[in-house]
Amino acid sequence: MVEEARARRPGQVVMAELDLLLMGPPGAGKGTQGRLLGEALGVPWVSSGDLLRHAIEDGSALGDQARHFTARGELVPDRVIVGLMSGRLEARDARGGFIADGYPRTVPQAEALAAALDALGRRLTAALAILLPDGEVVDRLAGRRTCPECGRVYHLKHEPPARAQLCDVDGVGLIQREDDSPATIRRRLAVYHQDSEPLIAHYSERGLLREVDGTGPPEVVAERLHAAAASGA
Ligand code: AP5
Repeated sequence: MVEEARARRPGQVVMAELDLLLMGPPGAGKGTQGRLLGEALGVPWVSSGDLLRHAIEDGSALGDQARHFTARGELVPDRVIVGLMSGRLEARDARGGFIADGYPRTVPQAEALAAALDALGRRLTAALAILLPDGEVVDRLAGRRTCPECGRVYHLKHEPPARAQLCDVDGVGLIQREDDSPATIRRRLAVYHQDSEPLIAHYSERGLLREVDGTGPPEVVAERLHAAAASGA
């Protein structure tokens, strides 16, 4: 329960084993919100997409295999992502909980995660689903720019950097993600509706689903998510 939360430092609230999922269509704001929520709750934010992009940048065999799928907006095979995410979520820094962003994305992945948590004597706290209409998804992804150095995410219209095309944190030139082309955005949305949307029913049936309106300014969405996370704790 929320009352069991303990303060670690002013403004930061930590709850025991807060194992949260952040779900939603591409561009719903999972990364933007995951970073904020992780800082607020004191648990690591773990993005499956970021882990895959790092593997691709490193030129590892797994990265080479993953790029074949990510560049086309297709899902990486379950066995690849389950291995990658299971290892990360069992790491020392995630022992008190985690925010898994973009994982699971299929029912078999959800089953694998439940089994992995069960083996650790843990149970999912809540699955937070950010809801956003397809039209807004396209607007957000088309205008997204990312810092290749620190990963900070901007939007040309909604969250522009202070200096045009340069990261506020390290001054590095911003880039557009390879999979944010109009055709690949359409494919990612179709894949979301076909393969990932069934997870809404999956977690609803288990009493774990918390749906959150993803429209409006990021700070308003953050408040809604924080309330939803607390209601699942
Ligand atoms: P991933 O990187 O997870 O991509 P995604 O799910 O498509 O999500 P995005 O990162 O595109 O968007 P987001 O929801 O994080 O939104 P953001 O905060 O950036 O995965 C990439 C690929 O990896 C997949 O396509 C797949 O191939 C593979 N993959 C990953 N996980 C997998 C898995 N489990 N199984 C198999 N394959 C997997 O925001 C978007 C933009 O909107 C930004 O510009 C931001 O500034 C702006 N914005 C955010 N919030 C607001 C707001 N409230 N108002 C206005 N603008 C906003």
